[in-house]
Amino acid sequence: MIEYGTMKVNGKGHLEIGGVDTVDLAARFGTPLYVYDIALIRQRARAFKETFQTLGVTAQVAYASKAFSSIAMLQIANEEGLSLDVVSGGELYTALAAEFPVEKIHFHGNNKSREELEMALDANIGCIVVDNFYELDMLERLCRSRKCKVPVLLRVTPGIEAHTHDYILTGQEDSKFGFGLQNGQAEAALKQALQSNSFELLGMHCHIGSQIFETTGFVLAVQKIMAKLVEWNHKYHYFPEVLNLGGGFGIRYTNEDHPLPPGYYVEEIVKEVKKQARDNGLKVPEIWIEPGRSLVGEAGTTLYSVGSSKEVPNVRKYLAVDGGMSDNIRPALYDAKYEAVFANRPLEKCEETVSIAGKCCESGDMLIWDLPVPKPESDDLLAVFCTGAYGYSMANNYNRIPRPPVVFVESGRAELVVKRETYADLIRNDIRLRVSLT
Ligand SMILES: Cc1ncc(COP(=O)(O)O)c(C=O)c1O
Repeated sequence: MIEYGTMKVNGKGHLEIGGVDTVDLAARFGTPLYVYDIALIRQRARAFKETFQTLGVTAQVAYASKAFSSIAMLQIANEEGLSLDVVSGGELYTALAAEFPVEKIHFHGNNKSREELEMALDANIGCIVVDNFYELDMLERLCRSRKCKVPVLLRVTPGIEAHTHDYILTGQEDSKFGFGLQNGQAEAALKQALQSNSFELLGMHCHIGSQIFETTGFVLAVQKIMAKLVEWNHKYHYFPEVLNLGGGFGIRYTNEDHPLPPGYYVEEIVKEVKKQARDNGLKVPEIWIEPGRSLVGEAGTTLYSVGSSKEVPNVRKYLAVDGGMSDNIRPALYDAKYEAVFANRPLEKCEETVSIAGKCCESGDMLIWDLPVPKPESDDLLAVFCTGAYGYSMANNYNRIPRPPVVFVESGRAELVVKRETYADLIRNDIRLRVSLT
């Protein structure tokens, strides 16, 4: 069994997380249930932050809240001294509701609306990461009419292909995100930002992909961006205060994944930025990063009750659980792989191979193929590991299935931080027809 963070098997032979028995959690809060090991989130946050401190670099570690946003999660991020990356009005609204320090909020997105930009300006957030010319123009008009100046980063696409799944690859030039670094767009955006009185140009941002297991992509991105910055420094006498290298640090979903320790990514990035700065006689900029998955992914476990099963003779056995693509769409969307155990008897010898099916009306609603398990019984509780990132945040109400609750566990205590949706929640926004439309 893969063990994450504080996970262990307790005296009753049950899976325990954060000092709390998962069988008790399921009995108390029901299933499906997202459980977060808060000590592990804190440990990861500290590993990133402390490495920067040890290396003597001014830095911001911004939690990419798209991975999992809730008020309580943002409270933890704030307790750990993280900054915050938001990508929509909704994520910003959550951050404001969590009373996250506004000066540490960075606003991303490739199609921010005028309303979202106004919301960010009203809240006086730390910076806006401008993604394209449409946004640059709109933001400039808004600032002019408000007579304000806004701190911005320019998101650039450095033309690096990080080793990961195609669908979540965002660093190559043919991407919907950012200004192309090689095709002149980034330079044009830089000139526009420098010539305007509406912007305080803090620096550059890039994000080369997700679930990355090596540092070469980051090093190459630093080299490509620094080369341009050197060129622009000569041409425009501008050198940024901030270089933001995004997120994408890999985690271990299954035994086939071999992530690097968080600090190692930081060390390699810092080493290259320092080298490039030194070689070109420039100051070392502040380095910002935006981990999402690597802060919360391994900390999350989803508990499901096992229900029906179906044997296809000589082919496979399906075992269905009370959730599926409505609480974890990643297997259906990305063919993502997960590991799982029966939380009520995680050490029992595996005797069968089953495929874990969700309860949604889609053949593709499969959570895990070919999972070795002990002989299934009616009260089994399935714990699927590593569901903390892009699980709850991508959850949906397909088949009008209510989204599960979220519980934080730490030091033997469990606290409900997101309630289970009710059937009433599902129809809250529905409006009954008063007159026939025909
Ligand atoms: C701009 C940006 N920053 C950070 C992240 C977080 O990535 P990850 O969760 O893989 O660390 C993403 C993910 O899509 C992103 O687009």
